[in-house]
Amino acid sequence: MVNYKELGLVNTREMFKRAVAGGYAIPAFNFNTMEQMQAIVQAAVETKSPVIMQVSKGARNYANATILRYMAEGAVAYAKELGCEHPEIVLHLDHGDSFELCKDCIDMGFSSVMYDGSSLPYEENIKISRQVVEYAHKYDVTVECELGVLAGVEDEVVAEESHYTKPEEVIDFSTRTGCDSLAISIGTSHGAYKFKPEQCTRDPKTGKLVPPPLAFDVLHEIEKKLPGFPIVLHGSSSVPQDEVDTINKYGGNLPDAVGIPEEQLREASKSAVCKINIDSDSRLAMTAAVRKYLAEHPDHFDPRQYLKPARENMKKMYIHKIVDVLGSNGKLAQ
Ligand code: G3H
Ligand code: 13P
Ligand code: ZN
Repeated sequence: MVNYKELGLVNTREMFKRAVAGGYAIPAFNFNTMEQMQAIVQAAVETKSPVIMQVSKGARNYANATILRYMAEGAVAYAKELGCEHPEIVLHLDHGDSFELCKDCIDMGFSSVMYDGSSLPYEENIKISRQVVEYAHKYDVTVECELGVLAGVEDEVVAEESHYTKPEEVIDFSTRTGCDSLAISIGTSHGAYKFKPEQCTRDPKTGKLVPPPLAFDVLHEIEKKLPGFPIVLHGSSSVPQDEVDTINKYGGNLPDAVGIPEEQLREASKSAVCKINIDSDSRLAMTAAVRKYLAEHPDHFDPRQYLKPARENMKKMYIHKIVDVLGSNGKLAQ
């Protein structure tokens, strides 16, 4: 058993309080590889931003849970080496689907966990969420829970259609679970295909899809019920068109990929939304850079040659999100 405080990590409590009061959001970036970790830390240090590094069940299967935990410990040391005296880095479990998985992460040094019971019946979701919160709080680990179902695939959680969070349930849910933050469903979803073409309109000039707006009315209702309570948005990649175009130009095939417009995420960041989850945009940035590099250098085969521009492209994207969308730059406590 190792406590995250021994590793120099922090939980989300204080940073969320400041984010809600200050009208900005903390970036939660998924990582599976060393290059993603390096790019996240470099971006957070250069912008003086707190950051959440999150690990999904799929990431644990891909990279090995122990390795990812040591990478997060390394991230703290690396941030200091880059000149940040007091980095605020959270190691968070993304979409934990059982009490046992959440406990395992807490025991190995995670500072925050998500228990995602959103696909379960309401009372069952409350019961397991409560169990996770009771265990986590013994170690001062913060817990995110979810109410409402996102469209698409959430690890093994599959939703046929989007079910927005019901504002009338949020007080009962947050009180009975004791969760520290609440992930809600207001129209975002995971992946690079967030909307079907028939849900969108088409920009007559560019021919690109324009997605329907997020349900800000639902978000505002929830904020009224839970004033100042930290709200989380999953599925918040914007699916930048330039990265999609690069991928398609160099042999990829991502027709009609569409994400959440950044203006809407900027607007959400000013509200009680204080954590915004981004994974797909990092995948797109990495893939675009690798495809371009390999197409332009068919004789190269050293992974460092193509992973370097991939890392640089992800870092550029992370900095853009922090500075131009979420507004968490310059928000370290000290
Ligand atoms: O919410 C899902 C995240 O993007 C993680 O995805 O399960 O493929 O690692 P993954
Ligand atoms: P995206 O697929 O939109 O990047 O969402 C990531 C996410 O919600 C991770 O939990
Ligand atoms: Zn998610």
